[in-house]
Amino acid sequence: MTITATSTDAPVARQTMLDDVIAGLSQSQKTLPSKYFYDARGSKLFDDICDLDEYYVTRVESTLMSEHVGEIASVVGQGVLLIEYGSGSSLKTRSLLKYLDQPVGYVPIDISGDYLAQVGVDLQDEFPAIEIMTVTADFTGTFEVPNPGTPESRRIVYFPGSTIGNFKREQAQSLLAGMAEVAGADGGVLIGIDLDKDRDVLHAAYNDSRGVTAQFNLNILQRINRELGAGFNLNNFRHEAIFNADTSCIEMHLVSTRRQTVNVCKYSFEFEENEMILTEYSHKYTFGSFEIMAAEAGLNVKRSWTDPDNMFAVMYLERV
Ligand code: AVJ
Repeated sequence: MTITATSTDAPVARQTMLDDVIAGLSQSQKTLPSKYFYDARGSKLFDDICDLDEYYVTRVESTLMSEHVGEIASVVGQGVLLIEYGSGSSLKTRSLLKYLDQPVGYVPIDISGDYLAQVGVDLQDEFPAIEIMTVTADFTGTFEVPNPGTPESRRIVYFPGSTIGNFKREQAQSLLAGMAEVAGADGGVLIGIDLDKDRDVLHAAYNDSRGVTAQFNLNILQRINRELGAGFNLNNFRHEAIFNADTSCIEMHLVSTRRQTVNVCKYSFEFEENEMILTEYSHKYTFGSFEIMAAEAGLNVKRSWTDPDNMFAVMYLERV
């Protein structure tokens, strides 16, 4: 079996990252793109978040996937090419790959190239009969889906973890439309979405007591310091996640604990005390709100699975 690493760990050109950071920090509401969380340390910290009791997302989704894997495998079908957006450690995917009916290939797409390369090697070891073809890319941009040696019967796009929730509505919709295109006329999309729920549960999930989410959030500043030669003092920022009820969205922030000036290359940015950098959106959906958005992207919800407490949903969609 071959492992096709399309590139090494320079997926994000330094200039692109610098442009994104400067653009984000120049807005009146300062922002940083959440995709920059996932360097090697950030990817590991995210895995640690997934192990937290308070972070129900991964646990509930994994339980759902294993409880319904038989039905999921049957709607997915035989001989498929499974394409995963933002695969990370591919943890949930391992059990799915085990139960699918002779999948010909698995294409994990991730922005964190070194991490992905290692995951690819491990997966190929674990699944010698499935062609593992890693693609180092930002899945919101353009990328090529490699063709497996054995042609697939159909393509399934897999997008677990409610990562769709990181995008604003219009972006989420165009991402879904792009998935419909990648899947093709007779393909399908399997997606995990986090459901709207009690605020205290949401608050605890994103402000965990061990401070792992805080480290994950602050790591973006450390990465910017290292890769762009910026001068963020990590002691002068703290993590805070807030639920915005109007938009049904968790908003992660880095709060400046004092008035300060931070240099990023030849630029400098002023922060007021308590000024916030918005680092991530995590939208929470209802069945209805998600179904409408999917329909606007040309996708029909064919099947869905949820837990008894309606915390999370896994949905299977096909083109209209
Ligand atoms: C991987 C984007 C789904 O929004 O819950 C976890 C990322 N951020 N804790 C989420 C995250 C803070 C996570 N997603």
